[in-house]
Amino acid sequence: MSASAPPAAPTDPKRYIDGWEKKWVDNNIHWDQGKSHGALVKFLNDDTETAKAGIPKGGWAFVPGCGQPLVGTALPAEKRKARLRGPPSTANNQGYDVDLFARHGLDTIGLDVAPTGVVAANKWLESQPPRNARALVQQGDFFAYKPDELFDLIYDYTFLCALPPAMRKDWARRMAELSKDAPSTRLVTLMYPLNGDPNIGPPFRLTEEEYHELLGDEWEITWERAIPEDEKRKGPPGDEKLAVWKRK
Ligand SMILES: C[S@@+](CC[C@H](N)C(=O)[O-])C[C@H]1O[C@@H](n2cnc3c(N)ncnc32)[C@H](O)[C@@H]1O
Repeated sequence: MSASAPPAAPTDPKRYIDGWEKKWVDNNIHWDQGKSHGALVKFLNDDTETAKAGIPKGGWAFVPGCGQPLVGTALPAEKRKARLRGPPSTANNQGYDVDLFARHGLDTIGLDVAPTGVVAANKWLESQPPRNARALVQQGDFFAYKPDELFDLIYDYTFLCALPPAMRKDWARRMAELSKDAPSTRLVTLMYPLNGDPNIGPPFRLTEEEYHELLGDEWEITWERAIPEDEKRKGPPGDEKLAVWKRK
């Protein structure tokens, strides 16, 4: 690989799923922030803003692409496997968003294609204090997933930008297929990264216009907020915006 080539990443639509599991197995999970995004936490704790946005207080929520790494830095495979057998990590995990929505009253299902991430996420979720709503991560491919119930709310953060750009229209189609066809249904997108080189990723650059092109037939924005500099994620730079879409 030349110095200017993008980092090795699962970008081939036919083979990229194996690439994600390899990232998990290698513990190459540089995207992990160690917690839910602060802007999402702040929003969900604000009853006035969530009422304006029409966030449901019950029903089913869905978080695609939410597996759990064991540690935030690379570990050799044998140590990583040992950690999987041992007590769950409490410091670095990615059942966070599943846990967060469940603590706001929604029965929440996470989905990840990488089995390693799913096992660890469920261990972590089980280790957390009791919640009133269900929280579970299932293993599966977002593009083939058949839920028992259609969802009242879907949350996308660093999932769309992780997909090969050629799959974006399929992502938008699936968002409509997986959600209830009702005006009370919400899609929460933490848009990221809203700048950068469109050819290098993941994360692959997105634009607000592209979100509207992808979602505009089925969804319209009811609430949005650009994320200020001091609240942005760590790691690869990119502007961010939290947006809530209602099903038309
Ligand atoms: C960049 S990570 C983002 C994780 C999490 N959303 C976060 O904010 O930290 C993308 C995740 O999507 C998962 N993934 C990729 N393609 C998928 C697919 N088709 N179905 C389900 N999960 C997928 C990967 O295994 C990986 O865990």
